[in-house]
Amino acid sequence: MSDISTRAPVGPVAPVAPVHETADAAVIKGRHSENVVVGEEIVRHSMLSRVIHWSVAVSMGICLLTGLPIWTPIFGWMAFLFGGLQVCRWLHPWVGIFFFASSVVMFFHWARQMWLSKSDWAWIGPRLFSYMKSETDDSQVGKYNGGQKIFFFTSALAALALVLSGVVLWFPLSFGQGLRELSWILHDLTFILFTASIIGHIYLGTASEPGTFSAMTRGAVSKKWARFHHPRWYREVTGEESRRR
Ligand code: HEM
Repeated sequence: MSDISTRAPVGPVAPVAPVHETADAAVIKGRHSENVVVGEEIVRHSMLSRVIHWSVAVSMGICLLTGLPIWTPIFGWMAFLFGGLQVCRWLHPWVGIFFFASSVVMFFHWARQMWLSKSDWAWIGPRLFSYMKSETDDSQVGKYNGGQKIFFFTSALAALALVLSGVVLWFPLSFGQGLRELSWILHDLTFILFTASIIGHIYLGTASEPGTFSAMTRGAVSKKWARFHHPRWYREVTGEESRRR
């Protein structure tokens, strides 16, 4: 690839800054790789991981906005965002199928890294609350902490529960009354709990832990962020872990 800054100008062109001054090295590296150090940053999520994540997130958001006006007239005004209630009724199940399909892709893409170790299980309990108060010893936390891993598996379970109950509600005449009623309860309960956990997830990924959001936009985080939130992952990526042994 030629460096555009070294080419002879042809005609009246504006001065162009050298490529190495304008290009974002971490973003370029993150197109194909992750867990690599680039200057003062570490690539945390490759482009593929980010595309998968945002496919799940955006489709989940559309399902929520089209589902709420179907659920109760209190949210009826939201239907106008999509052109009315009839559009919501039609759009909701199809986007739901897309949400489920992208959740399946996300599951297989991340499952191996999300496997829970013995200590991760402690996150179901008081450890979660001490983490929120920054009172935990995180020195052995790898790329994902126990809370993130549990969130990952509960999200996958929620996607499964939503699609199974959703199909019954989509084709009500093909199923018995008992199953239809069970599906209403399962669909509503799951979406309410899932939405609550997503609100917590968004809070942790943005306002509560500054520097995290860029992991899912540019794909990179600062070394400082990595050392603070995921110290073992930081040591592994920078080579400190092997030097320690
Ligand atoms: C606007 C909404 C969302 C924002 C701002 C957001 C933000 C983020 C960020 C910043 C990360 C990276 C965390 C890290 O690298 O440590 C992440 C990871 C992740 N996101 Fe989201 N996300 C959103 C919606 C969703 C939705 C709807 C799901 C649905 C399942 C989801 C599932 C995940 C999972 C499983 C991970 C990996 C584990 C974790 O970091 O918790 N996200 N998200």
